[in-house]
Amino acid sequence: MAPARPLPRIVRKKSRLHGFGVFAAEPITKNRRIVTYDGELVRNSESEEREDRYFDEGCIWVFRVNRAWSRDANVGGNIARFINHSCTPNCYYEIVDKTIWIRAARNIRRGEELSYDYNTIGERTIPCLCRPGCTTRL
Ligand SMILES: C[S@@+](CC[C@H](N)C(=O)[O-])C[C@H]1O[C@@H](n2cnc3c(N)ncnc32)[C@H](O)[C@@H]1O
Ligand SMILES: [Zn+2]
Repeated sequence: MAPARPLPRIVRKKSRLHGFGVFAAEPITKNRRIVTYDGELVRNSESEEREDRYFDEGCIWVFRVNRAWSRDANVGGNIARFINHSCTPNCYYEIVDKTIWIRAARNIRRGEELSYDYNTIGERTIPCLCRPGCTTRL
């Protein structure tokens, strides 16, 4: 069997969108797997209380995996938790069993900030800063 291709190099840096973001440290070709969104696996019945608590602090750390499970990146998260949202993202996510993969939606240049569409549900009160005049709320 061919050895698995290593994941592309990515770095965390200050973002013009919000706080820290994650940037490509090498060119990434369309559809390439970039990183998994890690975090404690929790039942949705438990994650909702955490989501509300984080949201009150202006943060979204919980990623809904399916109707039963979520991943809480505030506990056991990796660099993927710093990937910001964009309404015109260059990444997308793919859920394989309970693993969340962030993948390239198009060819990404070295130095570009990575983003995906959070597809948030619920209160949605955080104004999106992905571009001037964006009216989306996260
Ligand atoms: C998973 S964190 C992303 C990392 C974050 N930038 C940081 O430094 O902690 C998600 C939070 O980042 C902010 N964020 C992400 N994308 C944003 C965007 N397009 N516009 C405004 N805030 C954004 C929101 O506050 C959101 O709760
Ligand atoms: Zn936006």
